[in-house]
Amino acid sequence: MTREGELSTGTDREESWPQSPYVHALRFRILTPLYDTVVGLGMREKRIKTTLLQQASIVGGTRVLDLGCGTGTLAILGCLLHPAAEFTAIDGDPAILSIAERKARAAGVSVRFAHGMADAIPFPDGAFDRVVSSLLFHHLTIDQKRRSFEEIRRVLAPRGELHVADFGKPEGRYARIASKMLSRFDGVETTRDNFEGRLPEILESAGFTARAGHRIQTTFGTLQFISASPRAAGG
Ligand SMILES: C[S@@+](CC[C@H](N)C(=O)[O-])C[C@H]1O[C@@H](n2cnc3c(N)ncnc32)[C@H](O)[C@@H]1O
Repeated sequence: MTREGELSTGTDREESWPQSPYVHALRFRILTPLYDTVVGLGMREKRIKTTLLQQASIVGGTRVLDLGCGTGTLAILGCLLHPAAEFTAIDGDPAILSIAERKARAAGVSVRFAHGMADAIPFPDGAFDRVVSSLLFHHLTIDQKRRSFEEIRRVLAPRGELHVADFGKPEGRYARIASKMLSRFDGVETTRDNFEGRLPEILESAGFTARAGHRIQTTFGTLQFISASPRAAGG
């Protein structure tokens, strides 16, 4: 496991691999190099990621964790829009992290990338003011979702916030068909709670106050924005 502030080597990353079940960015490891093209064409990616960063109200000095960062597009965009904020990004897949590191270098931004699982975040308690995450939770089983939300609570500083963009309950006939196809592709078990619109409820039961915000239609289904803050103990 990577310690705080260290960038894990490929070997370290492979040693802590795999976690089961694990759904890669495009389900199959071999498709990972196509990820940016597929998401760029089908997900209105720039709009989604800009909206998520706006929702997170990032300012200079904000310590942001991008959870399940994939090829790093969100964290890199965050750095470009908020150069005085501090961006850390983790993902469970070493191969996709290598792509993200290359993209950050090419964009001339400094993101701290590390290998890490959403339900075992390799950073200390209270290390972040914001956790942002796009398109991760539909890759996690219900148990992984719950454990991940606990971990997010742990790494958030007091008054910290979680901001999520992920698939939600499909709106309209086209989105329902697209969601059925996506659930066959990414996995019925991992996508079910998303497509039933249950992420806010699972967050609530994990000790957050969650608010579902607006939705955006994409080629692969309806995307739901959610913001959540940890409830005070006993709240
Ligand atoms: C669909 S991609 C989303 C990537 C990126 N956030 C985006 O919006 O383009 C899902 C990512 O989550 C990662 N992932 C899946 N399960 C994970 C887990 N348990 N812990 C950390 N990352 C995970 C995958 O490797 C993949 O990069």
